[in-house]
Amino acid sequence: MRSTRGSTLNRLLPVIVLFVVFAVGLAFPLSNFFVVRKTVVDVSNNRDFAPVAKILQSSCVDCHSVTPGLIAHPYYASFPIARDTIARDMLEGQKSFKLTQDQVSGKEPISNIDLAKISTVVEEGSMPPIRYKALHWDASLNQQQRAAILKYIVSRRN
Ligand code: HEC
Repeated sequence: MRSTRGSTLNRLLPVIVLFVVFAVGLAFPLSNFFVVRKTVVDVSNNRDFAPVAKILQSSCVDCHSVTPGLIAHPYYASFPIARDTIARDMLEGQKSFKLTQDQVSGKEPISNIDLAKISTVVEEGSMPPIRYKALHWDASLNQQQRAAILKYIVSRRN
């Protein structure tokens, strides 16, 4: 009796382990759909900027802003490997350029220098970094979002 039960467990063990690994793995990206982030309302009165305000909040502010409410910390932010990666990304990201809350809301314009940098990374498709997109499934820029950012940048040149 005992040996039968034992072998059933032995056969099921790999399946159970796979399931647990799968569930734990999925918990990381799925949790990011539930993190709370302050929503900044667009006050620019500029139709070209309106979509950009949303994209910056869904895809960029975590690493390129220092305003506490704008940054959403995932629950795994204190886990050993994640902690260092996240801290380094935020530090390096903020060194490259910073978005204030007033810039995200459109109250203050983003500088031309920063717009030029943004234009480059959007055309390259290099932002957000892949490691971030792997865990933030709604952060990748789709074709429309990229077009919206570039359209706004072109409109600022006129
Ligand atoms: C996971 C954190 C993270 C997110 C999210 C993120 N970035 Fe970055 N960003 C970085 C890091 C780190 C760097 C500096 C190193 C590098 O260039 O890869 C950087 C650099 C940049 C630069 C400077 C590039 C240069 O060559 O000067 C720009 C512009 C930029 N990011 C724009 C964006 C935009 C726009 C978004 C949203 C669509 C975004 N980033 C989302 C981490 C991030």
